[in-house]
Amino acid sequence: MAYAGGVTAAGCSRVTPGQLAAAAELAAEFLGQSGADALLADFAAHPELAIALTIDGTLAGVAFGHPDGEDGATLEGITVDDAHTAHGFGSLLLARFEQAAADAGYRNVNLGSGGGYVEHFYLKNGYQQAEYMVIIPDGDRQHLDLDGLDVLRERHWEPNDLVLNIAAPQGHSPAVKSELEQRLHASEVCCIFCKPITR
Ligand SMILES: CC(C)(COP(=O)(O)OP(=O)(O)OC[C@H]1O[C@@H](n2cnc3c(N)ncnc32)[C@H](O)[C@@H]1OP(=O)(O)O)[C@@H](O)C(=O)NCCC(=O)NCCS
Repeated sequence: MAYAGGVTAAGCSRVTPGQLAAAAELAAEFLGQSGADALLADFAAHPELAIALTIDGTLAGVAFGHPDGEDGATLEGITVDDAHTAHGFGSLLLARFEQAAADAGYRNVNLGSGGGYVEHFYLKNGYQQAEYMVIIPDGDRQHLDLDGLDVLRERHWEPNDLVLNIAAPQGHSPAVKSELEQRLHASEVCCIFCKPITR
């Protein structure tokens, strides 16, 4: 593969133990320390779902995940070194993760997306929005206007966050996302995407 950045060879394969430290460094840089910790935990439990992107012999991206508790796999994290983003390598890595998940017998891939262009990244790769995850600091369900919303799950995060998963029957909608944010006084509304996969 070649592009203006001068790449001559790019490919994806399972993360090897020898690549793990570099992969964790990449995850820490672009996904934060919690991303690196998640990679190490997921690699230990599900190495078949940890995929490395190599460009010209150097580790340039990583995608990793774990079972979602039903029949799907959760993509916990994906990142491409910012020297190589916006040239299709993330899509290549995502497709390889989906293939690994399908090979392992999972029937769909789901994930919580970052905002902005990251939502576009998943949409262009065939994902559909299934839910919103709404984080409400000091939230109290009794005092929220939840009329007409289908609340699927409710959790509490330390110290005082109420987290509601709300169905997205209309699919991806930036307008609904921002309306939810205002109406529920949320600190963050994250889009939960899903894609069926086959072997
Ligand atoms: C998300 C990410 C993995 C995508 O990798 P990538 O190699 O850029 O992916 P692609 O090139 O296949 O697609 C990216 C799309 O977003 C667009 N885009 C817009 N702004 C962008 C930006 N600042 N950086 C990257 N892509 C951007 C690209 O143009 C492209 O869309 P297009 O094909 O319609 O032009 C990568 O950008 C990344 O590592 N981001 C930081 C970590 C992150 O947010 N991970 C996702 C957590 S849910």
